[in-house]
Amino acid sequence: MKSVSTALLAFTGLAAAASKYDEYILAPSSRTLHPKAVYQDKVNGTITGASSLAGDSKGSAVFSGISAVTYDFGVNIGGLVSLTIGNKTDFSNNQSIAITYSESSQWISGIACDATQDSGMDEALWFYPSGPGEVSVDRQHERGGFRYLSLIHNTTGDIEITEVTVEFTPSPTTDDLRNYTGFFHSDDELLNRIWYAGAYTIQMCAIDPKHGDALIHSDQINSSVPGDTVAPWPWYNNLTIANSSVVLVDGAKRDRLIWPGDMHVITPSLFVSISDDAAITNSIDNLFSLQNASGKLPYAGYPFKQDTYSATYHLYNLIGVSDYYKFTDDLDYVKGKWDAWKLGLNFSLNFIDETGLMNLTSPDDWLRFGQGGHNIEANAILYFTINQGLDLASALNDSSIVTSWQNYATGIKAVANNLLWNETAGLYHDNETTTLMPQDGNSWAVLANLTNNATQASSISKSLAARWGPYGAPAVEADNAVSPFIGAFELEAHLLANNVSAALELMRLEWGFMLDDPRMTNSTFMEGYAFDGETHYAPYTNDPRISHAHGWSTGPTAFMTQYIAGIQLVSAGGRTWKIAPKLGDLKTAHAGFTTTVGSFEVFTNVTGNGDVSIDFSTPVGTSGGVAVPYPPCAGIMTIHEVKGRCKDVILDVQAAEDQNGDIEVEGLIGGDWELRFSCAK
Ligand SMILES: *[C@@H]1O[C@H](CO)[C@@H](O)[C@H](O)[C@H]1NC(C)=O
Ligand SMILES: *[C@@H]1O[C@H](CO)[C@@H](O)[C@H](O)[C@H]1NC(C)=O
Ligand SMILES: *[C@@H]1O[C@H](CO)[C@@H](O)[C@H](O)[C@H]1NC(C)=O
Ligand SMILES: *[C@@H]1O[C@H](CO)[C@@H](O)[C@H](O)[C@H]1NC(C)=O
Ligand SMILES: *[C@@H]1O[C@H](CO)[C@@H](O)[C@H](O)[C@H]1NC(C)=O
Ligand SMILES: *[C@@H]1O[C@H](CO)[C@@H](O)[C@H](O)[C@H]1NC(C)=O
Ligand SMILES: *[C@@H]1O[C@H](CO)[C@@H](O)[C@H](O)[C@H]1NC(C)=O
Ligand SMILES: *[C@@H]1O[C@H](CO)[C@@H](O)[C@H](O)[C@H]1NC(C)=O
Ligand SMILES: *[C@@H]1O[C@H](CO)[C@@H](O)[C@H](O)[C@H]1NC(C)=O
Ligand SMILES: *[C@@H]1O[C@H](CO)[C@@H](O)[C@H](O)[C@H]1NC(C)=O
Ligand SMILES: *[C@@H]1O[C@H](CO)[C@@H](O)[C@H](O)[C@H]1NC(C)=O
Ligand SMILES: *[C@@H]1O[C@H](CO)[C@@H](O)[C@H](O)[C@H]1NC(C)=O
Repeated sequence: MKSVSTALLAFTGLAAAASKYDEYILAPSSRTLHPKAVYQDKVNGTITGASSLAGDSKGSAVFSGISAVTYDFGVNIGGLVSLTIGNKTDFSNNQSIAITYSESSQWISGIACDATQDSGMDEALWFYPSGPGEVSVDRQHERGGFRYLSLIHNTTGDIEITEVTVEFTPSPTTDDLRNYTGFFHSDDELLNRIWYAGAYTIQMCAIDPKHGDALIHSDQINSSVPGDTVAPWPWYNNLTIANSSVVLVDGAKRDRLIWPGDMHVITPSLFVSISDDAAITNSIDNLFSLQNASGKLPYAGYPFKQDTYSATYHLYNLIGVSDYYKFTDDLDYVKGKWDAWKLGLNFSLNFIDETGLMNLTSPDDWLRFGQGGHNIEANAILYFTINQGLDLASALNDSSIVTSWQNYATGIKAVANNLLWNETAGLYHDNETTTLMPQDGNSWAVLANLTNNATQASSISKSLAARWGPYGAPAVEADNAVSPFIGAFELEAHLLANNVSAALELMRLEWGFMLDDPRMTNSTFMEGYAFDGETHYAPYTNDPRISHAHGWSTGPTAFMTQYIAGIQLVSAGGRTWKIAPKLGDLKTAHAGFTTTVGSFEVFTNVTGNGDVSIDFSTPVGTSGGVAVPYPPCAGIMTIHEVKGRCKDVILDVQAAEDQNGDIEVEGLIGGDWELRFSCAK
């Protein structure tokens, strides 16, 4: 037997560990940005010195006659553009110069920006300088997302530009955009980039609510009108969508609306990376302020039409409160929402019919088709929400609803399995009258523990993975669109079904594609695309409209921290926790984050063939346990508290062939711990 290492790993502390990985952070260190380069080193027409405007110093670019250039900022950004007009300009000749924006290289254009409206493209912004000095876009033309900025000169004579700057406006209340409260690092560079791109996507989606999208054409145009560059639409980001200093919206470029479904993916990823409690509570407060007397909560925040009822998004509003509570332990906040919460859940329970399932009478969801009747996704989400409600009720000592809610939950689980489970396929049907077996409902069934047994969860995981194409997991319930929103639920379903290799593979496949494809921003995650890899998202016809920085596509950030590195908060704020790293084919995983209760950190290293070391740190005053997959060999495991306040745990471990599942050790106190396992050789 190899001796068990007892060397102490001195923890450097969370802040130091986080700063070690700063190189992966995509957020800028200053809010004043300059272009990184001329896109593809090319200019149209004659521009002398175009590349001198890239980089941090001033330069001189002289545009002679009809000419244009596109600058690349290297990553997706948002903000207000200023140009400094130089004195080599031929002012007597009435000069004009325009700018256009695009998130994707696909929509770079000398005529229009990419799109924020249902159809067509957005108009360019023109400047008519009459003398040297700075010209800036007005505040209503803040652009939420663009990587590419084109400068277009359409007059004869010369215009000189000496500086191009962008004042970065996302995350308006954050002083230091790179001061993250969480970090992640593994021996897989693609996964590391995915984690940080998720965090940055959320930063891009945190906006000043005075600059929502005015959607001035939403009644005039619809998505059946194809993209049109001939007569681009005016656009303004000057509508106040909430009364607060920051809110989280679905997408940086569009819709710039608060959506409760998107919040459910954003919240955990935000708390493991950047932490911004106010951005979460402001958004929840805004959505709850729109609840009507019957209990109905909104599909989306103001100014979205408030008569729409979505059974699933209604529930996501409720889930938002429990998501927030899980990471903050802020029971006072829950208390303040509790009456509205109960009213909201009872509103949904009224749709449960004599079968025991909720019967959906309105189709609105995440833009999938066929949403109605005894839909599996909606019923799984309802089952999940009831259980969240029971947890909150217990934290609040409210027993008034317990029996009734428990009965509804038991009924939903029994009937859904009876009516909708197909044992041959290993999947649930969308409802009892169709053979369609959706990605959303099957993923949600696992997340909600609507499944009766682990075999069911694992067959769902296998059956969903069998449907993947070269670019990701299809949503068969939305014309095979690849939806990173529903994909996030599928990802978590694989992790819960203990199919770690499928989860890692799906992150690399789907989220790796969204980083590395040249049409992407290499920094933020898009809203959706086609199964064949085209940047077409089935619910819309207008491709330039697709958002390339969408909060609902940031799931991997939370999941890598929670399931791969393995920091799980078992009770609110992490008063109880579980350290459960599952590395799959990785050799190292290191993650940490802070809640109001304290800091959590875990570093796992596969130090040899089957040997592993896990160092973890949890706040003093908390308690928890560790769970480690059975190793491929027999050996001795020791678990040792660094400050020596506890007796070492020593386990004689058998090899994986004999054991399924995890080795679990309970009853540990918060502190710094090291676990060592060595194969007996
Ligand atoms: C023109 O601008 C440059 C700086 O961009 C300045 O150094 C120079 O003095 C100016 N020339 C005139 C004639 O104003
Ligand atoms: C430059 O010319 C190319 C080729 O015609 C065109 O695709 C591109 O949109 C032009 N760029 C701008 C900013 O006008
Ligand atoms: C340049 O474009 C602007 C905006 O469309 C227009 O007002 C101006 O007439 C154009 N100038 C020329 C010379 O085409
Ligand atoms: C970073 O944020 C923490 C709080 O999360 C704060 O204590 C610290 O001062 C900040 N550091 C900088 C450099 O802003
Ligand atoms: C947005 O700006 C446009 C153009 O200035 C203006 O017509 C419109 O009234 C503004 N909307 C709001 C809500 O301020
Ligand atoms: C579900 O509701 C619809 C619309 O109210 C109704 O037509 C249908 O019969 C209901 N289905 C069941 C199974 O109750
Ligand atoms: C059942 O599911 C199918 C497939 O999604 C759909 O076409 C159908 O409309 C659904 N039934 C009801 C009652 O909504
Ligand atoms: C269950 O799934 C199998 C395999 O996809 C299919 O052949 C069968 O028709 C399904 N059963 C029902 C009742 O739809
Ligand atoms: C999931 O449901 C099964 C029974 O259907 C139950 O035994 C198990 O405890 C549940 N798991 C959780 C995490 O609630
Ligand atoms: C798991 O539950 C499903 C649905 O109730 C059932 O069909 C299946 O037989 C169960 N499998 C095992 C191994 O218990
Ligand atoms: C994408 O960004 C990463 C840094 O996050 C960089 O290393 C890589 O070169 C970039 N890829 C391309 C194609 O620009
Ligand atoms: C992981 O363990 C191996 C083998 O002991 C060691 O060489 C390596 O430096 C460790 N990795 C880290 C990141 O500490």
